[in-house]
Amino acid sequence: MADVLFTEREIEEKVGTLGARIAEDYAGKRPLLVGILKGAAIFTADLARRIGEPAQLDFMSVSSYGLEASSCGKLTVKKDMDADISGRHVLICEDIVDSGLTMKCLLELLAARGPASLRLCALLSKPSRRQTAIEPDYCGWEVPDEFIVGYGLDYAERYRNLPCIGVLKPEIYKKR
Ligand code: IMP
Ligand code: MG
Repeated sequence: MADVLFTEREIEEKVGTLGARIAEDYAGKRPLLVGILKGAAIFTADLARRIGEPAQLDFMSVSSYGLEASSCGKLTVKKDMDADISGRHVLICEDIVDSGLTMKCLLELLAARGPASLRLCALLSKPSRRQTAIEPDYCGWEVPDEFIVGYGLDYAERYRNLPCIGVLKPEIYKKR
């Protein structure tokens, strides 16, 4: 890893701030937090514990290989959530929104299931890479167009368990 962007302490503070905002906005609504595997597993687990309100947890795994701005036909659901979301207040928890294509397609898919509300909470966002109009309703930090790892985010399944968030050295991914 080249540079630490956010320390463990800064992440803890940020997740606490997001959790407090969500608790206020969803008071009495028993939101369903849907973490997107695997990248958002750690974020979702921490965020859930910082929402001091009753909430439910579920997880989905989707793969977005080859998505295009014009078509969501290629979003593959590798693991669906267990919950029936009709009439529920659903908050998707994502690690990072990059082009926004995965979230655009996932939001379309979930909206069709009739939730009472559907919002997106992303720990990180790379606005300079966006190919869709998707903006997270809750966002931890905006980051530059660099490859980010740690706190759930991986490069080839490595670095997910780093407690901090950092930028990967370009020579690591240019070698391969
Ligand atoms: P999008 O469809 O382009 O927004 O892609 C989003 C997904 O790509 C995220 O859920 C991440 O899993 C992955 N991703 C995008 N940028 C990064 C990064 O810098 N580090 C690690 N994973 C990333
Ligand atoms: Mg992801």
